[in-house]
Amino acid sequence: MEIRDKKVLITGAAGGIGKALAMELAARGADLFLSDVNDTGLHPIRHQIESIGRNCHITQTDISQKDRVKEMIDDAVDRMGHVDILINNAGVTIIGEIRHVPLADWEWIMGVNLWGPIYTVHHILPHMLERQQGHIVNMGSMGGLTAVPANGTYNVTKFGLTGFSEVLRAELKKHNIRVTLICPGFLSSGEEFEKRGRVRGFKKFKPGAFAKGVSLPVDKAAKRFADAIEKDQFLVTTGIIGPFYYGIKRIIPWLYYRIGEKMAADLEKWY
Ligand SMILES: NC(=O)c1ccc[n+]([C@@H]2O[C@H](COP(=O)([O-])OP(=O)(O)OC[C@H]3O[C@@H](n4cnc5c(N)ncnc54)[C@H](O)[C@@H]3O)[C@@H](O)[C@H]2O)c1
Repeated sequence: MEIRDKKVLITGAAGGIGKALAMELAARGADLFLSDVNDTGLHPIRHQIESIGRNCHITQTDISQKDRVKEMIDDAVDRMGHVDILINNAGVTIIGEIRHVPLADWEWIMGVNLWGPIYTVHHILPHMLERQQGHIVNMGSMGGLTAVPANGTYNVTKFGLTGFSEVLRAELKKHNIRVTLICPGFLSSGEEFEKRGRVRGFKKFKPGAFAKGVSLPVDKAAKRFADAIEKDQFLVTTGIIGPFYYGIKRIIPWLYYRIGEKMAADLEKWY
């Protein structure tokens, strides 16, 4: 879908890849509706987008609150006329082995990473189906294609998002509604992302330790993702280590399981 003059809704747009995507899509001629649980970060982005001549609306929304998500979608449709592209970007992480994760944390991460996109899609679909047009973009992760010890809660949500996206892709194609699943490896926002996350069980874990290594700058990543939307690409991956590990999973599964066991054994250094 060509981006020029399209109306785009992005969740979790106050920082990181959400903000970079908002700026990239505005530069390509889109009008934006940006939401985040932390709306203070949204004001300067709106000024930047308006300064390049595009419209930008902002709203504070906790994506895990289903009534708020309905209000957000209704508001976006009211203010922009319709939504061409929905980008489910908001996400959180938890670092810790599953045995240390309290149920309240499970509810938190499932609420933001999985229920959030389910709510937005549930409420946007009637509008897109009526127009027989639209594009849904889900920000998954390489962690939605491969499992990583100490990131199990996140894996569960992102694997869920992978399945959700694959089924949506199949079911919505006949309605001219496209779906893109973005599965990045580490992005330059990774340290901030981990800082915003919760750490369970580990005393020595420092935020950023997971995201250390090959990290793609978010502005470069945003260009890749915008290109993928324009080309109606379904699956987008970035990085080297993540896609390589995913290749091992598919081609040499026993090695993938061994590496998982070794990673789990190495976690002792963080206790
Ligand atoms: N950073 C990485 O290395 C990386 C890698 C793969 C996938 N991702 C995915 O990319 C997405 C964005 O991550 P990022 O690196 O930009 O992180 P980030 O923490 O910089 O941005 C996430 C945004 O989501 C917002 N948010 C958190 N909880 C929310 C809620 N309940 N409702 C609404 N908004 C909420 C935050 O305020 C923040 O602005 C996430 O879905 C993440 O899983 C990130």
